[in-house]
Amino acid sequence: MNTHAHHSVTAETNPNLAFIILAAGKGTRMRSNLPKVLQPLANQPMLQHVLEAASELNPAHTLVVTGHESEQVEAHVQKIMPQAICVNQGKMLGTGHAVKMALPHLKNDFMGTIVVLYGDAPLIQPETLARFLNAHAGKHVSVLTSEVEDPTGFGRIVRDGDGVFLENVEEKDTTPEQKAITEVNTGIFAIDSHVATPLIHALDNNNANGEFYLTDILKIARLQHKHVGTVTGADPMEALGANDRAQLAELEDFFQDTMRQYMMKNGVTLQNPSSIFFSADTLIAPDVTVEPNCYFGPNVVIHSGVRIRANSYLEGCVVGEQADIGPFARLRPGTALAANTKIGNFVEIKKASIGKGSKVNHLSYVGDASVGEGVNVGAGTICANYNSLKKEKNQTVIKDGASIGANTVLVAPTEVGENAFVGASTVVRKQAPAHALVVDAPDQLVKENYTKKDSK
Ligand code: UD1
Ligand code: CA
Repeated sequence: MNTHAHHSVTAETNPNLAFIILAAGKGTRMRSNLPKVLQPLANQPMLQHVLEAASELNPAHTLVVTGHESEQVEAHVQKIMPQAICVNQGKMLGTGHAVKMALPHLKNDFMGTIVVLYGDAPLIQPETLARFLNAHAGKHVSVLTSEVEDPTGFGRIVRDGDGVFLENVEEKDTTPEQKAITEVNTGIFAIDSHVATPLIHALDNNNANGEFYLTDILKIARLQHKHVGTVTGADPMEALGANDRAQLAELEDFFQDTMRQYMMKNGVTLQNPSSIFFSADTLIAPDVTVEPNCYFGPNVVIHSGVRIRANSYLEGCVVGEQADIGPFARLRPGTALAANTKIGNFVEIKKASIGKGSKVNHLSYVGDASVGEGVNVGAGTICANYNSLKKEKNQTVIKDGASIGANTVLVAPTEVGENAFVGASTVVRKQAPAHALVVDAPDQLVKENYTKKDSK
């Protein structure tokens, strides 16, 4: 998960560390036009979770093996990690073949450890990788293993009577006794660069799937009297990939729960944790209270002392200290709320800045707007920002101290000056000068007997 990004440490690049991330698979069972590794977990592609976990270890090189929908995958990698190198696998002949295709793209002078990860196994933790690498020191090849309740689908870690590692056997190649083994291969390997090429080239595809299994390097290395290490104790979730949407939902559940624990540990009150949905990049300061049923879309930053009342939906916004949001508020991308603002029920804000202490308390739409400090926006105020004839959005500016009466329509582009007072139910089409009173109908029109039949 991405919570480690919240306390990202700037450490020096490790020149002796390289990652190869396998991301070529098609993911047929997702039934999607989106490649599997770009399926989102907490609104962030699975592959990005893996890239971020890897980057916490400051590798000198990161290679991503692509295949299915490679342009889409490569475009994403390019966007979030331009220094990573993408290698198109071409024919997908197995995990061993994927690594074989990647190796020549490592700089010739690279010496050190190559770690293999998977673009569809997004829950791997940087702390686990660090522990794995420490344990790998002095070995030629290491594999990260995990004890799981249901080993179905995983490669089994076969040991002799003394617990000494013998080999990994893939599900389809297991004997009935081996099927019962609950120590499984997470798929994560560390390989010393000096032995990587010869080991990978020694792989064959004589197995039930007719694939070149990366896992076979363990056995080959052992037969060649190389030092093979197994590192146990990875959380079973870290080994899990998502092959279909049900599995993706399981990973999401786990990830969300981890996020909630992380938030609470950092001083955020969640009144009903299980009803809160976070994005991987959600940032919330201490002493924020979140009432039940709130959704945090991508790119949300909440400063301290804020209260987010029940059933609010936030995305792409910054909320200043001590602001009071909701219940039932919707903050859309481009919203910037200053300190002590109040956004009440059934209010939608989009691409708008709201100054210190300003209030939009009820049933309003404020979009493409700049609202000053100490402004009161009355109930049912609408920024008519869209000119559907010209198909363009226009700005509304409301200066400090202005007061907007209930049921006002601000027809953008328009500006309400400092301390101006707009009466209720006004359609503001012209500018309202500072300190002015602006109302539509100065006199209330009263026609008596208007609805009586004989009144013509
Ligand atoms: C693999 C391991 C298994 C382990 C499990 C953990 C092998 C042979 N088996 O099984 O021991 O328990 O992971 O999840 O490695 N990929 C490519 N190119 C290919 C083939 C695969 O990029 O040619 C990618 C896939 O997109 C996928 C990953 O490698 O993300 C794993 O491949 P997959 O065939 O799904 O292996 P598993 O059956 O999961
Ligand atoms: Ca898999």
